[in-house]
Amino acid sequence: MNARTEPPSITPYPDGPLLVRGAVELRTADGEPIEPNRRTVALCRCGLSTLKPFCDGTHKAAGFRTDD
Ligand code: FES
Repeated sequence: MNARTEPPSITPYPDGPLLVRGAVELRTADGEPIEPNRRTVALCRCGLSTLKPFCDGTHKAAGFRTDD
């Protein structure tokens, strides 16, 4: 089973992004498809990434904290 056929899953990473795996379609706010370049895609949930919707690691320097 490869990343394109695995069931989709979204896992919140503690104090970090949402990790998306499996067969999902990512789209821009305008509906344009975003081609994931990796098997696991990290989506920003701190709001500070300069590469939104992807995490760029800024959450670490910002001290972003979650309850999970
Ligand atoms: S969660 Fe990593 S930059 Fe926002």
